[in-house]
Formats: sequence, structure tokens, C-alpha cells
Amino acid sequence: MKKVVVIWSSPNQDGLTASAKNQIIHGLSEAGAEMKEIPLNRKKLEHCRACGNGWGTCNKTGSCVIRDDFAEIYQELKEADGIVWISAVYWSDMTECFKAFFDRLRRCDATCNHSLTEKRCVLVACAGGTGRGTLECLTQLERGLTHMGMRVYDRISVVRYNRDYILPVLDEAGKTYVDRLENGFDMYY
Ligand SMILES: Cc1cc2nc3c(=O)[nH]c(=O)nc-3n(C[C@H](O)[C@H](O)[C@H](O)COP(=O)(O)O)c2cc1C
Repeated sequence: MKKVVVIWSSPNQDGLTASAKNQIIHGLSEAGAEMKEIPLNRKKLEHCRACGNGWGTCNKTGSCVIRDDFAEIYQELKEADGIVWISAVYWSDMTECFKAFFDRLRRCDATCNHSLTEKRCVLVACAGGTGRGTLECLTQLERGLTHMGMRVYDRISVVRYNRDYILPVLDEAGKTYVDRLENGFDMYY
């Protein structure tokens, strides 16, 4: 059985982002994945302090000096076969909460641990305003994941306009993702 972590960020527990998250989780569960949900906005996560002259313990020991929920979430990601990253779109970017987590994760993993290298991922950006900025948000997420050597297999935009027809697609996306994790991704990366 494949373990999939769904890490998502929005302050709203019943908004567009949460609907997208619920739909892909439904597909993942139907396909038989072991699923772990991480609601980032409910976690205690501080910003990187850029210790010392810019590098603290992160690039030496692969850990962060701040004692909050970061280490526990990082461990969950390390143990996952697949990771689904879902963010609300703020200012054509990922949420501030996601940025704070991402900054610290990238420092520890890209420079020292390399334990997320080659993790296979799916990205979802949910923009409930004009819908502008989903592509930039997905690009920013992928840029960070690429720094850590992760691989992105799908990038899905959810906006108010496509909500009714994209939510069923997310269900299918979850099922396909589990199938590929089990049977292989039919593309060279
Ligand atoms: C600070 C802030 C910035 C936002 N920027 C954008 C944006 O660039 N594009 C957009 O379409 N919506 C934007 N929105 C709207 C969010 O994408 C909207 O809240 C969306 O529904 C997020 O999902 P939610 O329903 O889970 O909150 C912004 C919202 C906030 C609070």
C-alpha cells in the first residue's frame, strides 16, 4: 500500500481549497492509498530566522533550531511515497504559511539531507478571486520542489469558473496518481 501525504494550506476549512483537498483525498482513498492529511494553517510554524550569517544548523545537520511543528511535518514527508501539495492562491503565489514552511524545508533538504529527492508529486493551486495567479503559484511551488530534486507529474488549477467540472477531475487525479505510484509513471523524468 502506498502512503500519500496531502499537505494543504488555506485558513478556510470549508472553502475552495478545502473542497479541492477533499475531492483528491476521496480519489486517493478509493484507490486504496494510506493517506495522511497535513493542514498547514493549523500547525505551529515560525519563519526562518536566517541564523548566523545566513546559514544556521540547516545546511550542517539538516535540522532547524526552531522547536515547532516543522520537524514532525518534515518526517511525514520523508516517509511518504507520494506528496500532493495544495495551496490557496495569494498574490499569485502560495500562501504565507506555505512559504514559511517551504523556506525551512528547502534549506534542510536541498543542502543537507536530500531525503525528498525524487519524491513524486502532484500540485494543486486554488484561486477563488479573479482566478489570476494559479499558474504563477504552481510555478513557484514547482521551483521549490525542484530545488529539492522532487518530480512533479501534474499541475492542476482550480478557480471559481471551473469549480463544477474540475472537482470530479480531482477525484480521478487521486485515483490515477495511486495507480502510477503502484505501477510506474510512464514517462522519463
Ligand atoms: C491575501 C490574499 C490574496 C489573494 N490573491 C489572489 C490572487 O492573486 N488571485 C486570485 O484569484 N485570488 C486571490 N485571493 C483569493 C483566494 O485565492 C481565495 O480566498 C481562494 O478561495 C482561496 O481558497 P479558500 O476558499 O480556501 O480561501 C487572495 C486572497 C487573499 C486573502
